[in-house]
Amino acid sequence: MQLLSVASEVYPLVKTGGLADVVGALPAALAAHGVATRTLVPGYPSVLKKLGKAKTVRRYEALFGERGAVLAAKVDGLDILVLDAPAFFTRDGGPYGGPDGTDWSDNWRRFAALARVGADIAEGTLRGWRPDIVHVHDWQAALTAAYMRFGSAAAVPKLVTIHNLAFQGRFAADIFPALGLPPEAWGVDGVEYYGGVGYLKAGLISADAITTVSPTYAQEIRSPDHGMGLDGLINGRIARLHGILNGVDTDIWNPADDPLIPRRFSGRSLGARAGNRRALEKAFGLDQDDAPFFIIVSRLTWQKGMDLMIDAIDHLVGLGGKLALLGSGDQALEGAFLAAADRHHGRIAARIGYDEPLSHLMQAGGDAILIPSRFEPCGLTQLYGLRYGCLPVVARVGGLADTVIDANEAAVSAGAATGIAFAPSDPLALHGAIARAVQLHGNRPIWQAMQRAAMRANVSWDSSAARYAALYRDLLAEAA
Ligand code: ADP
Ligand code: GLC
Repeated sequence: MQLLSVASEVYPLVKTGGLADVVGALPAALAAHGVATRTLVPGYPSVLKKLGKAKTVRRYEALFGERGAVLAAKVDGLDILVLDAPAFFTRDGGPYGGPDGTDWSDNWRRFAALARVGADIAEGTLRGWRPDIVHVHDWQAALTAAYMRFGSAAAVPKLVTIHNLAFQGRFAADIFPALGLPPEAWGVDGVEYYGGVGYLKAGLISADAITTVSPTYAQEIRSPDHGMGLDGLINGRIARLHGILNGVDTDIWNPADDPLIPRRFSGRSLGARAGNRRALEKAFGLDQDDAPFFIIVSRLTWQKGMDLMIDAIDHLVGLGGKLALLGSGDQALEGAFLAAADRHHGRIAARIGYDEPLSHLMQAGGDAILIPSRFEPCGLTQLYGLRYGCLPVVARVGGLADTVIDANEAAVSAGAATGIAFAPSDPLALHGAIARAVQLHGNRPIWQAMQRAAMRANVSWDSSAARYAALYRDLLAEAA
């Protein structure tokens, strides 16, 4: 089976969050189930730089008025297609906005162009290759499904994965004529969304199947609380909705064979973690001791509950804990963490920025990773934490609820507990969870048993890739 995957990020070419990890890891996992994937991504400068030898497989004279080309290359085992369109993607800054953090004003054109090219490929524009099925991720790629539905590839099955409903790609109605969709695409059954154009909405209404990245998130988004305005549409398409849990790339995230950490280890050699801990304390300028050592690797945003975390810092220090934070995002939150680090020298340290190697050391050296999210479609850092014996302390929402087994008495005595889960996502519950973590950490045999249980948890893509492959087959059978 030939699959076209369309996304705005793919690890290791471009990454701002978990989307990239998932889009980068799925192809290898799917290959084991007879699915051959080609992944279409925008040609940002970082992507073109890492591409190496590439072949031009299609040229555009006027893609939304601009010149472009589709390049094909193999990178780290991935079969990559890149939309090289300098007018859209060659600029300083991030994939979605300028260096100052504000979104590019022409994002509607940039990602309509990506989607248009995705649909063209579905229609057979590449000589010698045509996908049997198209899988698109998040709002940046979602319009592909609408272009397909209203074009000559309408019969090719298309699946949209929601990684985060908070980002929907909403634009003013006046862009509609420029999208090149037929007039009948305008309306509640098409791309129209609360009087404007909604890219994710258009994808969700056009897709043959919708998936979320965890089963619990699939349930949560049916309610107005988490549905972000799309709960009505989602409930209307409930027979088409599936929650398939993310996995992790167990080669890249493997404590027994990770080149990015000084001491490799397994569940049988937890003692070796101490060497990583010392390296981590040094990297952050924290006291060297055996106190409960919390880490955070996160976007610093309201979604991630980082404001709750600021509020909990004095409490954490008061209980004898310490914290190393790596992240970037809201400036007010960045400032607040830096201020807390000043206030609690040696106990709290914050690194503002993005640092993939450091994130490995943190998982390998910390005792527990704090993830107090208000909502979490899946979450990957708790999975990395499980794999590295850095026990997750999580809000019981979305994929966090699906992957962490709380250390209640029954779970501890059964040897099943892998972390701490709390609810609701508020200051009181977070304080309680930190206190429970500190207490459990004081009981070495129990803590180590939890670490071993965590490291045994299956966080690979195996069963989820099988579920995606089965879903693709169902869609193909339905289309036949
Ligand atoms: P989200 O995609 O919502 O940000 P996930 O937990 O799914 O959350 O994925 C986040 C990914 O980004 C993980 O791979 C995590 O390790 C990584 N990450 C987040 N912030 C940083 C950072 N500052 N430095 C390095 N890696 C980071
Ligand atoms: C989004 C979500 C996160 C999820 C990731 C990958 O960024 O916020 O929870 O893990 O996508 O699916």
